Amino acid sequence: MSSEVVEEFDVDHSGRHFLSVEDISNDDVMRIINRGRQFKAGDTPRVEPGHVAINMFFENSTRTMTSFQMAEHRLGMKILDFDPGHSSVTKGESLYDSVRTVDAIGAEVAVIRHSTNHYYDYLLSTGTLGLSVVNGGDGSGQHPSQCMLDLMTIAEEFGHIDGLTVAISGDIAHSRVARSDAQILTRLGANVVFTGPREWMDHEVTRLGSMATLDEIIADVDVAMMLRVQHERFDAGPDFSATDYLQAFGLTDERAERMKPNAIIMHPAPVNRGCEISGHLVEAPSSRIFEQMGNGVMVRMAILEQVLQARESK
Ligand code: CP
Repeated sequence: MSSEVVEEFDVDHSGRHFLSVEDISNDDVMRIINRGRQFKAGDTPRVEPGHVAINMFFENSTRTMTSFQMAEHRLGMKILDFDPGHSSVTKGESLYDSVRTVDAIGAEVAVIRHSTNHYYDYLLSTGTLGLSVVNGGDGSGQHPSQCMLDLMTIAEEFGHIDGLTVAISGDIAHSRVARSDAQILTRLGANVVFTGPREWMDHEVTRLGSMATLDEIIADVDVAMMLRVQHERFDAGPDFSATDYLQAFGLTDERAERMKPNAIIMHPAPVNRGCEISGHLVEAPSSRIFEQMGNGVMVRMAILEQVLQARESK
């Protein structure tokens, strides 16, 4: 990827790209959630089949990549294969040159996950790309499609977002999910409380809500959103113990028993069972972790449909 610094980047508000929750209005968030719910109820796509997608995941993924693939299949899209490990990335090809290439070959939508925060700024600032970029997660920056599926799951459960108390717990500093979700939850009127080790907090995120310990807040939450300790992004230290972390900061059985009867457990996954959450709570009746994954297909259909419609209207 070019090291060129982009001082000013004009965000594309046309809807042709889906990059960051910062570019999405509250109305558009609700439109995506509601369209996801319509797809879940069996509605059919409003775009012609045959559009070409490519999923370029430079960081590993189970859920985001496969659910985008499923969404693309359900929209009747054709999917080009791309595996960075078997591409010319291994010969030093830059992200820009890889994307420029698949654009030239005929991809209309590239779903991209990359470890560089805001990787899309440089790509789009060049003005050379005809394809649409959908952000599948950028470093510790944003995970906008995860945010949409989280919001859809909460809206399905409670019928509203405003007034709910949502605890976002754990590795806040390295979590693109925390960053995206906290922004949209607070914009939509939820009360967000951050819990976890103080040294893993990030003021840019925690300024959006308040801070507490999980013990202090657990009886009051509507949603306990547990986050994975992202060992790939930082060194938790030689003394880090999953068992100790669970007892100090995680969702233990004892803490789960103190939750309100209608409160739910969420986690973007992958889950470190026995670390941020007691293993069997992943499948507890109050857990919506697998519903989140299913809803991921629905909101990603909605996102891709919106992007394709925006391309058609140009
Ligand atoms: N939640 C999420 O982004 O999972 P993957 O890393 O498996 O895509």
